[in-house]
Amino acid sequence: MDRLQIEGGHRLDGSVQVAGAKNAALPILAASLLSDRDLVLGNLPAVTDVTAMLELLREFGVRIDGPRQGRLVLHATGIVNTEATWDIVRRMRASFLVLAPLVARFGHARISRPGGCSIGTRPVDLHLEALAALGASVETAGGVIDVTAPRAGGLQGGRINLAFPSVGATHTAMMAATAARGETEIVNCAREPEIVDVATCLARMGARIEGAGTHRIRVEGLTLWQPAEHMILPDRIEAGTYLIAAALTGGQVEVTGGRLEHLGGVCEVLDAAGVTVFPSDRGLIAERHGPLRSVDMTTGPFPAFPTDLQAQFMTLMTQAEGVSTIRETVFENRFMHVPELQRLGANIEHRGSVARVRGRSPLDGASVMATDLRASMCLVLAGLVARGWTTVNRVYHIDRGYEDVEGKLRRCGARIERRTGA
Ligand code: EPZ
Repeated sequence: MDRLQIEGGHRLDGSVQVAGAKNAALPILAASLLSDRDLVLGNLPAVTDVTAMLELLREFGVRIDGPRQGRLVLHATGIVNTEATWDIVRRMRASFLVLAPLVARFGHARISRPGGCSIGTRPVDLHLEALAALGASVETAGGVIDVTAPRAGGLQGGRINLAFPSVGATHTAMMAATAARGETEIVNCAREPEIVDVATCLARMGARIEGAGTHRIRVEGLTLWQPAEHMILPDRIEAGTYLIAAALTGGQVEVTGGRLEHLGGVCEVLDAAGVTVFPSDRGLIAERHGPLRSVDMTTGPFPAFPTDLQAQFMTLMTQAEGVSTIRETVFENRFMHVPELQRLGANIEHRGSVARVRGRSPLDGASVMATDLRASMCLVLAGLVARGWTTVNRVYHIDRGYEDVEGKLRRCGARIERRTGA
């Protein structure tokens, strides 16, 4: 199994090109199932979650040309199957996003219920409630979910009031509504930039959607699908990760392709910690002014501080003067990285959804275990400032959402090697 070895103490300077956003690419790939017209996608990230989604689409019968240089053409004409088996769903939760487009277009789909993952139980009740609000019947037995649209005329437009601004359930509601009869209003939607990117792609495919990026989205159904082309938006979480890495090592990194408006509450929190993020001609630059200051931070739905940057921010706070309190409000179990950071010498107390980080703690390189995508990146960042060498095991977690991590860091001056095998 691959692992990364990092020698600490090397300042990062240079530039990193941000890839396309995994969390926009996955729902957009699923959305290709809605239409029998060609969809050309560009700026796809070369990460294993995208490979897994492409594998799933091929299993349904989608013909795919590419990817070549982050670009591919999807032809969802010969769909032969509308069932997503446990084998795929257990490997990648986001495969659950194929449910809405399959039901919307073919009137039926069957999918294994995704189990929990290391960061939380992650139920799918809001997705199923959204489909039921458009007239679908939902049956669950033996860990398998069967969803069927009303025979006469398929899904019906209606009002979907989400109990929580869930990103995934907003994608599900939006995609299903594009094929429903009449208008649908979705209330208390997620406002993440990825929602806007999916809505933009659906509009290019012919859908009539208003309000993406706000708490209220309106969709006119019975879309007349047309051939479309779409570039996936830059990955704001990857951008935020490298900005934090630069600040951590006291260097200056230009994150090309990064956009300030996608970072929501990140800049304000980093500013309070003594790190200024400002736009450059090609993207964003993070600049540190003196020692890092401890700052309290609470994660939340966009535009609050993203939960996907919480672990990386925690590593930054281990090197800040003072005590910072980090509250995780989106997932109930997203502190799996704490014991691994403690192994490196970090001073962190954690109870329930609150962690208190006492800085500045000198870190010492050691062998640590990655538990999920973002936790593994927080350990790589810790390795950049730890004394000696740090080994991060199970980096398959990182490959799921970060393209060429060691190449990008090495080009900015990091000493980092990938080792394969036992
Ligand atoms: C998306 O997950 C992202 N994944 C996550 O990124 C990200 O952390 C999350 O949004 C929040 O920003 C993708 O886009 C593929 P949610 P998603 O539905 O859609 C609860 C990463 O590291 N909930 O907004 O699953 C849920 O349990 C990943 O790239 C229900 O209770 O997130 C959670 O506590 C990790 N019922 C909260 O809502 C539901 O039906 C937010 O989940 C759905 C969600």
